[in-house]
Amino acid sequence: MPAARTDPPPKRTIGLLTSGGDCAGLNAVIRAVVARAQSYGWTVRGIHQGTRGLMRRPVEFTTLDPARAGTDILRLGGTILGTTNTGNPFAFPMPDGRKVDRSAEVIEGVRLMEVDAVVGIGGDGSFAILRRLARQGDIPLVGIPKTIDNDVGATERSVGYDTAVMVATEALDRLTPTAASHARVMVLEVMGRDAGHIALAAGIAGGADVILIPEIPYRIEAVAAHIEALRRNGRNFALVVVAEAVPDRTGERVRRQQASGAFTYGGIGEIVAHAIANLTGAETRVTVLGHVQRGSQPTWNDRLVAQAFGVHAVDLIAAGRFDRMVAWQNRRVVDVPLADIIDRPQTVEPDSPLVLTARGLGICLGED
Ligand code: F6P
Repeated sequence: MPAARTDPPPKRTIGLLTSGGDCAGLNAVIRAVVARAQSYGWTVRGIHQGTRGLMRRPVEFTTLDPARAGTDILRLGGTILGTTNTGNPFAFPMPDGRKVDRSAEVIEGVRLMEVDAVVGIGGDGSFAILRRLARQGDIPLVGIPKTIDNDVGATERSVGYDTAVMVATEALDRLTPTAASHARVMVLEVMGRDAGHIALAAGIAGGADVILIPEIPYRIEAVAAHIEALRRNGRNFALVVVAEAVPDRTGERVRRQQASGAFTYGGIGEIVAHAIANLTGAETRVTVLGHVQRGSQPTWNDRLVAQAFGVHAVDLIAAGRFDRMVAWQNRRVVDVPLADIIDRPQTVEPDSPLVLTARGLGICLGED
């Protein structure tokens, strides 16, 4: 029997935007969306600076083809489209300090671009905004998860996480010889927002002695006792990894308000180092890794996940399936309703395999 012929999907134009903090692997997603769209004979319009580009008139976008967004860009960190994590259109910060609802302008911007669907590459915060816009403006939307924090629900991987862990692990590799040479306790503060995924994974991979994450309450005295026990056993140095959202002794997270009004974490490493020095008499030094974790060339793993996600997202559009996010589950690329992941961040479960691994290795998590 001859194989059934299926009609090609109708010609479409896709709007593509990156939203929230950048990370390594975004350009690999862009390249994959462009390549897959090309295979259908479709057009991709890359929107500049996330929803900000949609507020500008004329709307700021670039038509992307494989010559502009081919294999060259898949190695590059950052996003060729630009992004924003401070421009929530429902409460847009104006120069005079007011917050204004500019969602109608963004929706109008999508209409002016004449696209049939939008692919948004973001974290759960971005998806909450994009989904609200999509519902309000009747915009067919597909999401692709990215964030170094790896806290998007329903997916084991988000683009950018692997690279951030690689950078943090490498930092521990570089701190080890200097720590040993000077007999110091080295404290490495890593990003991750409210999730300890980067700290936990990099800490295990990089041979940390202590890992503090926001999901597991710690006592600094337990950390000090562990470092003293290491010393008694002949180790002259120690590596301590602290996730940025770990609270201080009073239970407060160390945050700073930026010019945009946004709060960012940073500074707990210094507090932990100071306390360790007081309790143990050890010489301590602090490295705050910061945005270095976002800026590297993507690892092979991030490039792979990014491109698998990009292809699947375009296939969802071809199948007319919207309001969904692509996800990685059990070695497969799948898709889930966007509604399922919004406001449900995936932080470290206190009995997760990596927590058990850390405990099994004798790594101190600050517990008694
Ligand atoms: O969500 C990604 C992230 O890098 C977090 O790990 C960090 O807390 C935050 O963004 C930093 O934001 P910004 O780029 O605004 O300093």
